[in-house]
Amino acid sequence: MSAPNSRQLVAGMVGGGPGADIGKTHRYAMRLDGHYDLQAGIFGRDPRTSSDIAAHLGVPGERNYGSVEQMAAAEAQREGGVDLVVVATPNDSHFEIARAFLEKGISVVCEKPLTQDSATAAELVRIAEENDAILAVPHCYSAYAMVRQAARMVRNGELGAIRFVDVEHASGWAATPLEDTGHKQAKWRTNPDIAGFPSVVGDLGTHAFHLLRYITGLEAQRLSGRLQAFVPGRRVFDNATVELELTGNVPARLWASMAATGHNHGLRIRIFGEKGSLEWQHEDPHHLTVQDLAGATTILTHGLGTLHDDASRLTRVGLGHPEGFLEAFANFYSDLAEVLRARRDSSPLPERDLSFPTGIDGLIGVQFVEAVAASHHDDSAWKVPASALQKAAV
Ligand SMILES: NC(=O)c1ccc[n+]([C@@H]2O[C@H](COP(=O)([O-])OP(=O)(O)OC[C@H]3O[C@@H](n4cnc5c(N)ncnc54)[C@H](O)[C@@H]3O)[C@@H](O)[C@H]2O)c1
Repeated sequence: MSAPNSRQLVAGMVGGGPGADIGKTHRYAMRLDGHYDLQAGIFGRDPRTSSDIAAHLGVPGERNYGSVEQMAAAEAQREGGVDLVVVATPNDSHFEIARAFLEKGISVVCEKPLTQDSATAAELVRIAEENDAILAVPHCYSAYAMVRQAARMVRNGELGAIRFVDVEHASGWAATPLEDTGHKQAKWRTNPDIAGFPSVVGDLGTHAFHLLRYITGLEAQRLSGRLQAFVPGRRVFDNATVELELTGNVPARLWASMAATGHNHGLRIRIFGEKGSLEWQHEDPHHLTVQDLAGATTILTHGLGTLHDDASRLTRVGLGHPEGFLEAFANFYSDLAEVLRARRDSSPLPERDLSFPTGIDGLIGVQFVEAVAASHHDDSAWKVPASALQKAAV
């Protein structure tokens, strides 16, 4: 058994080039608690800008690679090679990039949707298992303290049996034909070859669906979906409404949109139980609103010492000091670091049932997208997601 050590985990990244949206969030979040040292990567498709960014980030020139295959081979062989690679490229390249590292036994954080179809998503899960690597998917909304509080309250039965769940990730960022203006992220998110034709379901619907599953602990038994393209001429669907039947026949509804006019981020969840209800909104992440049967409202706040341990452990600056998106991403990375370190040092694994989303969650997300698309094409007929079929077969 190797001795536990305090060495930082060595991280690599593919994606996160100039003007990239989420790559820099990963980098900030990895730095926040000092668990990771970014030492290798390919920062965009263009080698020159990739090397400029590598230099700016302090990544040594010889570890700024020209191809994923080269990076995976060199880092797997290298003494002190990467413990983890973050894949933050558009959806169509997730599979090949993640596979290259997982096959070498290198753990991967792969952006959502995990891949473009459930066969390849299942393949990644299998390769990760076979090579003893971790595959994690950053649905980081589940790493907010008040979301962990909500999940713990539901697990503890504080709401009683769940009766109904209403979740939406309805943003207005692409309520106009932004793709025609050269907007980088709109361009690929409205290209069916890259984002898939139910684009908004993979992009925002999977976040909402994961949040619902994470807080309630319930899975989709069947669903009925309808897709729309609100912006004329758009080649993908930009709005989706989904009716769900969850474990125990609990009804739920999910709305995902990138064309919800005027909405900013637009992520919100409400959960109704027989004894009370909960509401959490991403744009006010510090607060969890709890209402009892009589209608009395309690607002729980991030940083309160009276929160459940799952939530109270997740503050860096304490009650009254705002924390937000970067900190939630950092919570994801800190929980992941505990597991990566335990494996590296052969030390005991932390026991947490409310922790980071894995490849299985990524796979269930892709199966959700496929079931919504299938339902839409069958005039919103009820469909059983493959995740529920597989569960029934076990
Ligand atoms: N978890 C979240 O909250 C969240 C938020 C936003 C985006 N995302 C996901 O992150 C991914 C990236 O989205 P984005 O909005 O940052 O995209 P983006 O277009 O802003 O950035 C993508 C980056 O990847 C680079 N790239 C593309 N192909 C590459 C390759 N083969 N090798 C190396 N670099 C390559 C591009 O040059 C660019 O720098 C998507 O899958 C998206 O769904 C997740």
